[in-house]
Amino acid sequence: APPRPCDFVVIGGTGDLAVRKLLPALLHCDDDDRLSPDSRVVGLSLAGLDTAAYRAKVRGELADVDVPDSTLDRFLERVSYASLDFQDPAGWEVVRPMLGGDDGDDSRVRVFYLAIAPALFGPVCRRLREAGLVTADSRVVLEKPIGSDLASSQDINDAVGEVFDEQQIFRIDHYLGKESVQNLLVTRFGNTFLEPLWNSTWIDHVQITVAETLGVGARAGYYDSAGALRDMVQNHLLQLLCLVAMEPPTYVDRETVRDEKLKVLQALRPLDEGDLGGSVVIGQYAAGLVDGQAVPSYLTEVDDPSSRTETFVAMKAHVDNWRWAGVPFYLRTGKRMDRGCSEIVITFKPVPHRMFPGNGDPEPNRLVIQLQPEEGMKLHITTKEPGPGGMRLRRASLDLSYAESYGGRLPLAYERLLTDVVRGSTTLFMRRDEVEAAWTWLEPLLTAWQSPGRTRPKSYPAGTPGPIAATTLIERDGRAWHESATS
Ligand code: BG6
Repeated sequence: APPRPCDFVVIGGTGDLAVRKLLPALLHCDDDDRLSPDSRVVGLSLAGLDTAAYRAKVRGELADVDVPDSTLDRFLERVSYASLDFQDPAGWEVVRPMLGGDDGDDSRVRVFYLAIAPALFGPVCRRLREAGLVTADSRVVLEKPIGSDLASSQDINDAVGEVFDEQQIFRIDHYLGKESVQNLLVTRFGNTFLEPLWNSTWIDHVQITVAETLGVGARAGYYDSAGALRDMVQNHLLQLLCLVAMEPPTYVDRETVRDEKLKVLQALRPLDEGDLGGSVVIGQYAAGLVDGQAVPSYLTEVDDPSSRTETFVAMKAHVDNWRWAGVPFYLRTGKRMDRGCSEIVITFKPVPHRMFPGNGDPEPNRLVIQLQPEEGMKLHITTKEPGPGGMRLRRASLDLSYAESYGGRLPLAYERLLTDVVRGSTTLFMRRDEVEAAWTWLEPLLTAWQSPGRTRPKSYPAGTPGPIAATTLIERDGRAWHESATS
C-alpha cells in the first residue's frame, strides 16, 4: 500500500537527536518514496527561528546525507518551524494552522515525536490534548530513557497514557531498528540448525558489548544525570539480551514478541549492592588517546571534578529460567573505549572429547553477531589446516557481511522505526510493562551505586578497553572478552 499522508511534529526540532538522527532518516524515507508526497515535517523548539532560518539550518545539517540535491530541496519544502515554550498553553496555538488549521484533514497520520527531556513528556502530552491537536490517528514517540527510575517512568507512562492509548505510544529503542538486531530473530527462528543448540546444554556463555570511541561531548548536561546504566544498560543492552534469550513466539506481532521479551526481563536474577565490585564493574574515563588524538577526561568534559557518573559498565547477568540456567550473560558498554564495536557473541561449549591430541585443541564455536561498525555475522568453526602435515586444527570463520551479501545501502535504524510509526506497528517498540520490568531489575543496583559514601567509579584511560576490573570480572570465570581472546 502507498504510504499514508503524515505530519511529523518534531518537538525538540533543533536538538541533537532531531538533526543527527530524525531528519536524516526522514530525508532517506523521502528519497525512497516512503514518505507520501504531501507529508509535512514541523519542527518545534525554543530556538526563536522562523521557517526560513530553520530550513537553512536543516539544509546545512543534512548536507552530508547521500541523496540527490533535488530530494533535499523537495524535503525542505515540506519542513516548517515554530518557536514556542512547550510549557505555555498559549504557545501551542500556532501549531494547528501548520497542520492544516481547523479544517485540517484529521484522517492524516499525525506523529508527535518527543525529542525532549523525559520530564517534559507528560506536560507536553497534556498541552497537545488541550490544544486539540490529538486526533484518532495520532501517535506519540517517546525517546529513551523513559524516566530515571521505576517511579518516574510510571509517572511518565501514566501522564502520557491519559492522552494516548498504549497502541498509540511508541517507546523507541533505536537498537531494535538495526538490521542486524532484527536479523537475530530471523536467524534464530527462520532456521532449524541453531535453535536446538540455543540453551544451557550447548551454550557456555553470552557476551553483549556496545563500545563507543565517542565521549559525551555536547550531551554532557543530559549524560551527567543519566550515566551508562540508564543511557545504555536499561534499554539497548537489555533489549539485545531479550532477543537472544526469548522463547520463540507463535508468530511475530506486537504482543507476542513483547510478551516473550517481558518474560526474559522478569527472569533476570536480581542484582544489588553486594554485586558492586563483584559481578558489576563501574568505570569512568580519564584523559587519554583515541585514534591517536588526545582527549580530555570525563570530569573535564562535564566540568565537574566530583561527578561520579559512570561512562562504563560491565556486568554478569543471569536469566533464571529452564533454558538459561547457569549460562552467564556478560554485558559491557562504555564511552571512549579503544574501538567502536557493538556485538553479541554466543560461545558454545567445548567438544566433549578430544580426538586430535597433539594437533591443538578445537576452540569452542562462536557465533558473533556484529551490529557495528559493519553489520554482519560470523560463525567460528574448527577446520583442518590444509597440507600434508597431519590433522592440524585451525579456526576458520563463516562470514556474512551485509554489505557484501546484500549490496546497496542499509537503512538507518530510525528509518525503519519511523516507517513503523506511520504504519502503526508497535512490535519493535517497548511496551510499558517491558520498560517498567527493566527499571525494576536495574533499580536496586542504581540505588546502591548512588548511595552516599560509595567509592568513585573505576578510572580507565580514554582509548582503552575499560577498567582492569572488567577484564578480571570475566577472567575469574576462566573466560575472556571476545576481542581479547586469541583471534
Ligand atoms: C543512544 C545513547 O541511545 O545510543 C548514546 O543515548 C549512544 O549515548 C547511542 O551514543 C549509541 O547509538 P549507536 O546507534 O550509535 O550505537
